[in-house]
Amino acid sequence: MFNKKSVADIDVNGKKVLVRVDFNVPIKNGQVGDDTRIRAALPTIRYLLAHNAAVILCSHLGRPKGGPDPAFSLKPVAEHLAGLLGQPVNFAGDFAGPLSVEAAAKIKPGDVLLLENTRFEAGETKNNPELSQRLASLADIFVNDAFGSAHRAHSSTEGVAQYLPAVSGFLMEKEIQYLGEAIANPKRPFIAILGGAKVSDKIGVIRNLLKITDQVLIGGGMANTFFKAEGYPMGDSLVEDEALETARELLAEGGQHLRLPVDVVIADRMENEAQSKTVSVGAVPEGWRILDIGPETIQAYAKAIQSANTVVWNGPMGVFELPKFATGTFGIAQAVADSGATSIIGGGDSVAAVNQSGLAGKITHISTGGGASLEMLEGIVLPGVAALQDKS
Ligand code: 3PG
Repeated sequence: MFNKKSVADIDVNGKKVLVRVDFNVPIKNGQVGDDTRIRAALPTIRYLLAHNAAVILCSHLGRPKGGPDPAFSLKPVAEHLAGLLGQPVNFAGDFAGPLSVEAAAKIKPGDVLLLENTRFEAGETKNNPELSQRLASLADIFVNDAFGSAHRAHSSTEGVAQYLPAVSGFLMEKEIQYLGEAIANPKRPFIAILGGAKVSDKIGVIRNLLKITDQVLIGGGMANTFFKAEGYPMGDSLVEDEALETARELLAEGGQHLRLPVDVVIADRMENEAQSKTVSVGAVPEGWRILDIGPETIQAYAKAIQSANTVVWNGPMGVFELPKFATGTFGIAQAVADSGATSIIGGGDSVAAVNQSGLAGKITHISTGGGASLEMLEGIVLPGVAALQDKS
């Protein structure tokens, strides 16, 4: 099903291998926070080292504007990675510039070099061919293991693949296999759970999921826009007025397949100390706002999830960062974990919720991609994957 060559299909012995990873991780006070994405890239890095390659890593971090900015440096990631690998990680203080050229010329098989943030070069997000060629000139082979960035057609993800033999890493392969299999060949019933704040971010995803799944369960802030589209009073709830027309269309397209919450937790403000209560949808008074799905909804959704053989989930059911409004998100996490279905979770917030709930071990696949996994669920071919060599 995944028809791209992987790093295991080529000879890397004695070669310089440029690996695009997604080390876009939280950094606080110069330290790496959640290092899941770094750990997820270790199998590819270790494989290359074990097969006598010299490894040149590159990644973006955050969205720096207008050139190099120390707040977005990958230096702390180099130190963290050295700890995980148990060997030194060299660091080049620019991306594909003179410092990278010098460092890449020196490295030997068994060495690891990390280049500075790809987005310190303006050409990166423009997929500038000159930058892609400069990057390619550092190495003999390109490996893309950055699933989380595969939906970006940038120099370090798509452009460079035009100038070097380009194959996938093991993380990329695993992610595409799980998500691709769920989309192309799901064991039914196939249920999608979608949450998060905005409908407008997920219109294409909802449309495609309505076609390929048996039910789409909606929660989180995006449900509000559907409620308003149905004519319910919303009090002070977050609503995307500009997406109302689209919400109406989706409701008409979805029919019975698109399910909305039947009850909601409302509060007089968005704080843990707020007054809160559970009401039916349609009974939200002025001055109150919806912050979570209610217990009847959790039960109804859990029942649907229990009957599923494939579940994909992206986006929390409520403001789960506040414990008072986390019941819906954790209730759904529990239902997914207990379902016995093939379960795939993507998106930073839903992944964080599953990790917090201690249920991560009961999920079949936790994706390292947010936007990338959504684009796959939307049925879009990811440019970072399309650029890789096909298995002959
Ligand atoms: C992500 O965190 O989803 C990826 O690293 C992509 O980041 P971006 O949205 O800034 O391109």
